[in-house]
Amino acid sequence: MPDPKEIKNIGILTGGGDCPGLNAVIRGVVRAAVNLHGWTVTGILDGFDGLIDAKARNITSKDVRGLQARGGTILGTSNRGNPLHYPVEGKNGIVYKDVTGKIITNIKKLGIDVLIAVGGDGTMKITQALFEKGVPVMGVPKTIDNDLKATEVTFGFNSAVSVATEALDRLHTTAESHHRILVLEVMGRDSGWIALEAGVAGGADVILIPEIPFDVGTVCGHMSERRRTGSRFSIVVVAEGAFPEDGGKMYEKEPGADGSPGRLGGIGHWVAGQIGLCTGAETRTAVLGHMQRGGTPTTYDRILATRFGVEAINHIALGYYGHMVCLKGNKIVCKKIKQAIKEIKHVDPSGQLVKTAEALGITMGRPD
Ligand code: F6P
Repeated sequence: MPDPKEIKNIGILTGGGDCPGLNAVIRGVVRAAVNLHGWTVTGILDGFDGLIDAKARNITSKDVRGLQARGGTILGTSNRGNPLHYPVEGKNGIVYKDVTGKIITNIKKLGIDVLIAVGGDGTMKITQALFEKGVPVMGVPKTIDNDLKATEVTFGFNSAVSVATEALDRLHTTAESHHRILVLEVMGRDSGWIALEAGVAGGADVILIPEIPFDVGTVCGHMSERRRTGSRFSIVVVAEGAFPEDGGKMYEKEPGADGSPGRLGGIGHWVAGQIGLCTGAETRTAVLGHMQRGGTPTTYDRILATRFGVEAINHIALGYYGHMVCLKGNKIVCKKIKQAIKEIKHVDPSGQLVKTAEALGITMGRPD
């Protein structure tokens, strides 16, 4: 691993699904690298794909001007194609190969002394594999799902919750006018943080999350009871990864035999259909989808992302490699990537926020 005094150039890539705040991280990294150490920065295009094909460009301090407010990532990203299991054309069709050797050659060719990877658990697993093969790396966690245990919060989450909350506010007025039950499907593959926080902030009547398999009878009973007691409309928020206790997750595209994760979708429509059948009420579904990932980051996310970027550089200068920056209390600290990716952060079904929701009269769909 290099002596920090010998570092001249930092490489940075954004991997996995995008989220608001990625550009603020890039700005923080570039400004701190240039201003504090006189290092240059190489931006790798389209995540790890850019390292397979050596697609990169120099990013200067001028290039990142005003970037804190811009959603997406100026570097591009990809959440398909894992370099440890990469599809390549073989004699008899597609075969899967470990192409990290090619990546390591290109890192050297591009003159990158330390690689910063900004991404979720998938990106961090690849980053750790590169570290184990001798590449000096630093991780920066991102995901709108907020499901990385090592950090109290990931940037992007606050922006996603704000979008979902605003959507619930908007659905309230139309649900009330038409006396309907409106179902909002939000993101959240394995953890229901977005659904739970937006549901509490946006005054949902039902919140369904992957951590609490739900009972349709409980949901219908709650809807009927509200109608019986004079509430003529209801709002349901359901995470895309939520599922009924006697069923499984619903996919728009099933997971692939090659290990690809599949595309979740359909649970919102299914829940609305079930409620319609058992209550006779008129229902509608809205699927928020990538609206939660796009657009301007909130103030909170801009600050967290900027701090992550600057602290990634500060920790590299102290000789931390194979680490990931994390939020702990109000401080940015560093944890070993290997430890940091061990556990997913799930909503605790008997935790305080779930109990808060239930105290408000919201049902989480638990069987009676
Ligand atoms: O991991 C974040 C996430 O937003 C998940 O909640 C969702 O299932 C997934 O990304 C969708 O990713 P994409 O549509 O980009 O493949």
